[in-house]
Amino acid sequence: MLDEQAGVKIGMRQSTDDKISERRTEKHGRRGALRVVVMVSGGGTNLQAVIDSIKDGTITNTQIVGVISNNRSAYALERAAENGIPSLCVSPKDFETRDTFNEKLLEAVDGYEPDLVVLAGFLVVIPPAMIRKYENRMINIHPSLIPSFCGKGYYGLKVHEAALARGVKVVGATVHFVDEGTDTGPIILQKAVEVEQGDTPETLQRRVMEQAEWKILPRAVDLIANGKVSVEGGKTVILP
Ligand code: GRF
Repeated sequence: MLDEQAGVKIGMRQSTDDKISERRTEKHGRRGALRVVVMVSGGGTNLQAVIDSIKDGTITNTQIVGVISNNRSAYALERAAENGIPSLCVSPKDFETRDTFNEKLLEAVDGYEPDLVVLAGFLVVIPPAMIRKYENRMINIHPSLIPSFCGKGYYGLKVHEAALARGVKVVGATVHFVDEGTDTGPIILQKAVEVEQGDTPETLQRRVMEQAEWKILPRAVDLIANGKVSVEGGKTVILP
């Protein structure tokens, strides 16, 4: 009886994977590799973690089809080039208005025909039209355990400065779907990291990256690529 009820629920679920796999089926006539665009602004260590995980087979059924940066000197662009991944820079500085930049950014993303957009340290406010278009198909990595130390103004080292200022003993990282709010979308994965005596914002940032970000971002991509993530009522369910 219980199983039956659970079965009905799952059958009725509007799952993220249904959406993604429908598109993959439509476009390629069969379920091909998940086409991923990674958006970056800086060093690109999270991008590297995804590249490495695809190479070593930790992420399956996935291809990075493009990297987009808002910053021409982002080292992440070199990582893309080194790995033979096409890339583009779309900088707000190159456009007269924010609206034009927003349009060009969306055009650049659409041009790669992605199934999934990964924001990996992308320090630009995502245009609302893009959020709508890629609902439940765009994920972000945030260097805290949401809902702590997130939202407006919490990015980069500021997150770790705030955590140390508050004296918390455990921090971490979160991968979530992107919605209209700042860091408010459905949470996919989180991983905790201990604060150590004498930590500086820099040492803490590094440990959060090594122990949490570089692990849960590739894991989330793999789960999505393999149809294991669904969204129900603003929350995700990770399927076995
Ligand atoms: C990471 O800490 C990520 O969580 C945050 O920006 C940083 C990006 O680092 N959103 P990298 O460019 O991936 O090295």
